Amino acid sequence: MTDARLSSPAALRNRDPILDVLKSVLPDSGTVLEIASGSGEHIVHFAAALPGLTWQPSDPSDTARASIAAWLTAEQPANILPPLDVDASANDWPVAAADAVLAINMVHISPWAATLGLLAGASRLLPAGGPLFLYGPYRRGAEPMAASNIAFDADLKARNPEWGIRDLAVVAAAADTLGLSLDRVVEMPANNLSVVFVRR
Ligand SMILES: C[S@@+](CC[C@H](N)C(=O)[O-])C[C@H]1O[C@@H](n2cnc3c(N)ncnc32)[C@H](O)[C@@H]1O
Repeated sequence: MTDARLSSPAALRNRDPILDVLKSVLPDSGTVLEIASGSGEHIVHFAAALPGLTWQPSDPSDTARASIAAWLTAEQPANILPPLDVDASANDWPVAAADAVLAINMVHISPWAATLGLLAGASRLLPAGGPLFLYGPYRRGAEPMAASNIAFDADLKARNPEWGIRDLAVVAAAADTLGLSLDRVVEMPANNLSVVFVRR
């Protein structure tokens, strides 16, 4: 590509399985805030499939926001807003409201403070019944992780000791203290999970 658009092979593989779950999780109308949008490919795909929703991408990375903006220029979707600079760990996000919040592949590739900030931000913004959707690999207590996730976890920690695959129960406990109840866990391809919390 000759512009700022980035493309992720993983995003192209997982976007349809994720979309299938989102169809049963998201409201029919309102604004969906995506945290850690990365390349922007997911949100472009989801917004085309679910045109009744307004989609708000975000990412703290300049490169990611340039890629998202380039995808918007190329595809001209009517229901995606320009990307925002949102660091999940910040106490204040430059977002007025959201009816649903998504974070795909962020929790394990950011410090724990980003997950705590994500949960707190979703709790601040979501109305009662509003969903927070997470996607990625998780530990499940003492259950052995798949070999691919053990290797991935080691690789993440070698890249940054503050990164790593989180225990779902620890994430759920932190969410619960912030008013987010674990609603659903869906097994996904390649040893990933979709995890849905709902604002009480
Ligand atoms: C592995 S990429 C995932 C991108 C996209 N969601 C996907 O699945 O293709 C992780 C993303 O998390 C973002 N990120 C890292 N730390 C963050 C933070 N504290 N708040 C919000 N996003 C963050 C990065 O900039 C990056 O775009």
